[in-house]
Amino acid sequence: MIIALTKGRILEETLPLFERAGIVPNENLKKSRKLLFETNINNVQFMLLRGSDVATYVEFGSADMGVVGKDLILEHGSEGFYEPLDLRIAQCRLMTAVPSDRKVVSGRVTIATKYINIAKEHFANQGKQIELIKLNGALELAPALGLADAIVDIVDTGKTLTANGLEPQNLIADISSRVIVNKASMKIKHEMVSKIIGLLNKAVKNGKSDIGM
Ligand code: PRP
Repeated sequence: MIIALTKGRILEETLPLFERAGIVPNENLKKSRKLLFETNINNVQFMLLRGSDVATYVEFGSADMGVVGKDLILEHGSEGFYEPLDLRIAQCRLMTAVPSDRKVVSGRVTIATKYINIAKEHFANQGKQIELIKLNGALELAPALGLADAIVDIVDTGKTLTANGLEPQNLIADISSRVIVNKASMKIKHEMVSKIIGLLNKAVKNGKSDIGM
């Protein structure tokens, strides 16, 4: 049973949650360069991936389960796996944001984002014609540098936007981390998968729980 975890900020909240569920890695994930880790549970391994790869690994069955942000699920498309549990961690919002001094732009608007599919759908639903520019980081600089009129990005505290002269405009989706499960694993490894989901669910709701595996 391989569980793909998202590296970075989400991991800081994922590990304590798994610990409350009674599943802990046998070594410190953050201090190692390894990508696959044994846990205290026999036959349960953690794999560390970029968030944008978790859905792909789970969809194709290289990982049985995964923890990934709803933003990346929306961007990837959720047809290829099940999404049985909201872990309610890494909560934030996916929003459009505009320069504070240039909120109204007429004509065809250019949007910079790493969420190309989400942005396409959002603006299409609003009947707006847009140009999309795919960026993988430092999006908040794009409007100031004349690359885009607005951005679509994750907003948590809002400090990154403010620090770059931007402000949030429209909410696209509320985001949190979800458990996703490979469709075949859900059938073939049903007992183990539902046990882990049950433990995580308990950990989300009550805090502490017993291992019982
Ligand atoms: C996200 C997002 C913003 C920032 C928002 O980036 O892209 O840059 O967090 O947070 P704030 O509202 O609290 O300022 P993250 O640090 O997750 O890294 P990323 O760019 O790799 O996604």
